[in-house]
Amino acid sequence: PRKVIIDCDPGIDDAVALAMALFDPRLEVVAVTAVAGNVSSERATSNVQAIVERLDPPRYPRLGAASPADVAPVVDARHLHGDDGLANLGLQVSKLARQHPSEKLICDEVRAAPGEVSILCLGPLTNVARALSRDPGLSEMIGRLIILGGSVKAVGNVTPCAEFNIYADPASARAVFRSPVTKTLIPLDCTEQVTFTLDLLEQLPPEHSRAGQLLRKLLPYAFRSYRREMGLESIFLHDALAVVAAVHPELFPTVDMAGDVETIGELTAGMTVFDRRSNFRGRGDMEVALEVDIAAATDCIVRSLAEAGRQ
Ligand code: BDR
Ligand code: CA
Repeated sequence: PRKVIIDCDPGIDDAVALAMALFDPRLEVVAVTAVAGNVSSERATSNVQAIVERLDPPRYPRLGAASPADVAPVVDARHLHGDDGLANLGLQVSKLARQHPSEKLICDEVRAAPGEVSILCLGPLTNVARALSRDPGLSEMIGRLIILGGSVKAVGNVTPCAEFNIYADPASARAVFRSPVTKTLIPLDCTEQVTFTLDLLEQLPPEHSRAGQLLRKLLPYAFRSYRREMGLESIFLHDALAVVAAVHPELFPTVDMAGDVETIGELTAGMTVFDRRSNFRGRGDMEVALEVDIAAATDCIVRSLAEAGRQ
């Protein structure tokens, strides 16, 4: 199996991604690291532990704690995910484990198996940027970063042109985009093509399974908040697509592009910018997915959740 670290800010779609990855025999999730984003750093940390405890996967990953952001976050997404990030279920952890800071755990796990560990970035890029600045040699040792975020079409989901994960910490996103790590970007252009209607609820794992119990409480909340906040009858499961990309990269045709992040624009902070000029002579050092095989990706998510329910 491929070794991965999942860096996330749970978040309902983060929880879905964890349920998929933790039971997938093709992946070995060596660590799950929390980052502030959808919710605060404290909440993200306890949510990661609560989800992993509820799912109780066959192989327990190490857990990393989110440190507070350097700059107070300007945004969260509690209107979509619930005040606690997880559908207001009030999930408690048995006892908050003593954990390493996420950025340290990232450094340790990557150094323990140089070149073999990829990182699925499902939240703001704060932890990855910190890990790279703490240990610059790390960039050569990370297998691949699969970054869920940004928007090539430049239509955002939190401001007119910025996507949430990038907008929440643009300085870190810029540092990561500019680092020499091998990167794949899964932007909104892909994730908003894969939509789920209410019949997803019937395809979830059964109530008696651990994954079923959790997902059957989380997902109805997402349908309600998407309807309330955006007037939509279907939902996106953005972060789940990053897990699909890790297992089935062939479902995401990519283009090599040079990408950067606007950090200070009055209207454009957090926007991802790609140089697509015909006379551009630089190097396109980021694989950017502009399309996704919608049917196959949908099927992959549903099957993967069903598999989580069989364990
Ligand atoms: C991203 O924003 C968050 O709310 C989701 O968890 C996802 O990671 C999509 O823009
Ligand atoms: Ca997320």
